[in-house]
Amino acid sequence: MIDIHNHILPCLDDGADSPAVSLRMARIAVSDGIRVIVATPHINGLYSVDPENILYEVDRLNLLLRQEDVPLKVLPGADIHVDSRLVDAVKNGEVMTVNNNRRYIMLELPDYGIPRHMSDFLWEMRMNGITPVLTHPERNAAIQDDINILQGFIMQGALSQITAMSLTGEFGRKPKRCAVALLKHDLAHVIATDAHSTRRRPPVLSRALRVAGDIVGDDQALRMVTEIPENIINGADVGVPEPRSRKVRFFERLLSRS
Ligand SMILES: [Fe+2]
Repeated sequence: MIDIHNHILPCLDDGADSPAVSLRMARIAVSDGIRVIVATPHINGLYSVDPENILYEVDRLNLLLRQEDVPLKVLPGADIHVDSRLVDAVKNGEVMTVNNNRRYIMLELPDYGIPRHMSDFLWEMRMNGITPVLTHPERNAAIQDDINILQGFIMQGALSQITAMSLTGEFGRKPKRCAVALLKHDLAHVIATDAHSTRRRPPVLSRALRVAGDIVGDDQALRMVTEIPENIINGADVGVPEPRSRKVRFFERLLSRS
């Protein structure tokens, strides 16, 4: 499996706080069946890591993994907040894309609300050949209340990544219900751990894979942690199901709120 969202790099953000923790996270991931991790340190108001620094830390961690015989490959990435200057930053190589491919970026939604002019922002990205993968939409309060908001973004060409622990319930009832609703409406394309540590949010995908399999079928669930993230890493086109064309009905919205 591939985990496309993971804060495994040490001492860059609120993820792993030492190389020893990174190594322990890597061992947990490998024992869960993960073979590739995209390291995605936060790029936001609190943390800012330039691409050279991320590449340097990725090289150092891969070296440590080889020395310790841990069969895991770590690739560069970033978990980026919406910023009006982001398109230029991607084009100029000032911010790290998924596997440095300049085609896909991991774009973090806030927990509350939708950034102003989000639709214009997505349109500008797509016009410049950049596909955003919206991270953990199921943890956003506005989308929990109305998943049609996310449907609109996906119709504009964005992809979405849900969090493994949302599906398994550790983020609480609302994120779980929303994640399940997104799967049922083909509004989720990738499952990732967003791991930050060995205990509170470990790099484990297998339990969420089983939950997703019960909703979308085992084959499609497996694609969400293998083929689809692999295509994203390679900067290739991603064959994902069209979102359901109809709007989500009122009573379903009510149910997803409770
Ligand atoms: Fe993250």
